[in-house]
Amino acid sequence: MTDQSTYNGPQRVLSGIQPTGNLHLGNYLGALKKFTDLETAGWEGLYCVVDLHAITVPQDPALLADQTRQIAAAMMASGLDPDKSTIFVQSSVRAHTELAWIFNCVARMGWLEKMTQFKDKSGKDAERSSVGLFDYPVLQAADILVYKATHVPVGEDQKQHLELSRNIASRFNQQFNAPNFFPQPEPLIEGPGARIMSLKDGTKKMSKSDPAENSRINLIDDADTIARKIKKSKTDTQGDMPESVEAMEGRPEVANLIGIYAALAGTSDEAVIGEFGGKGFGTFKPALADLAVNHLAPITDEMRRLLADPAEIDRALVKGAEKANALAEPIIEDVRKTVGFWQV
Ligand code: TRP
Repeated sequence: MTDQSTYNGPQRVLSGIQPTGNLHLGNYLGALKKFTDLETAGWEGLYCVVDLHAITVPQDPALLADQTRQIAAAMMASGLDPDKSTIFVQSSVRAHTELAWIFNCVARMGWLEKMTQFKDKSGKDAERSSVGLFDYPVLQAADILVYKATHVPVGEDQKQHLELSRNIASRFNQQFNAPNFFPQPEPLIEGPGARIMSLKDGTKKMSKSDPAENSRINLIDDADTIARKIKKSKTDTQGDMPESVEAMEGRPEVANLIGIYAALAGTSDEAVIGEFGGKGFGTFKPALADLAVNHLAPITDEMRRLLADPAEIDRALVKGAEKANALAEPIIEDVRKTVGFWQV
């Protein structure tokens, strides 16, 4: 059905992170570390701080630019190299908004009305949410397709938005009789760390909005805080560490700690169980705390260093905007021709 198999443009990754609130371990393992791993594996990648998405709910104008720098700093501190990947701010590439408008005229109301994230975020009072919040996934499609990105590393919760991007791409290609103009972007979700849960409730995602501070590890937490939060994390009354992957079943908190260990160590749940299966949490938790502290400390230090003098971050973002604009410009020009806009 799709024209996926016949698209033969370059393979390219794009992802975005909103400049809202503190980053935590879930953001790191689910996104930042994945980006860096993709860069190391040789993927061409664009990584974007999505400030246009952030303003779908009110933001303080006095804080937004600094929040944006913080995400860029986290990307760089996690290992993304601004010379290899393109690290940039969404609003600094005007083509995102132009393509989003055109996609607004391609996407159908019925498609957007099915988006569960809008329903969750708008809550009972959808009438009062911004039009931008409703339109959020269309802008996301534009983020991806304005670079003809073919792969998108995102969490499970973004699968529906990515599906919408695929539908918009197909419909654009059909409507304008331009087969293979846009690719069908594919998710890259698998692997350990895809879904990091709360340290206090293994059935809830680790979240910046959880009122329980002990439920998450923030990227800016110091070593003692990280160690303390891990040692206090919830386990269960079913005894020691499971001795097989099957035995993790029904033990969401324990499975989460094992998943965090595996993701930080760059190994699998099986390997972690091979090492710690049958041992007590008095052995496993301190080992996990050490691993987390050793892994995160250099990142936190580098983030602090960068933020102390934002000039380096700003230079990287200016360069990123130049590279991103250079890629997006010819594509949006082609889109304008394809749609039939006046030009001389
Ligand atoms: N909606 C994504 C999130 O909340 C952020 C995002 C915006 C994004 N544009 C994107 C992710 C494009 C991937 C690709 O996580």
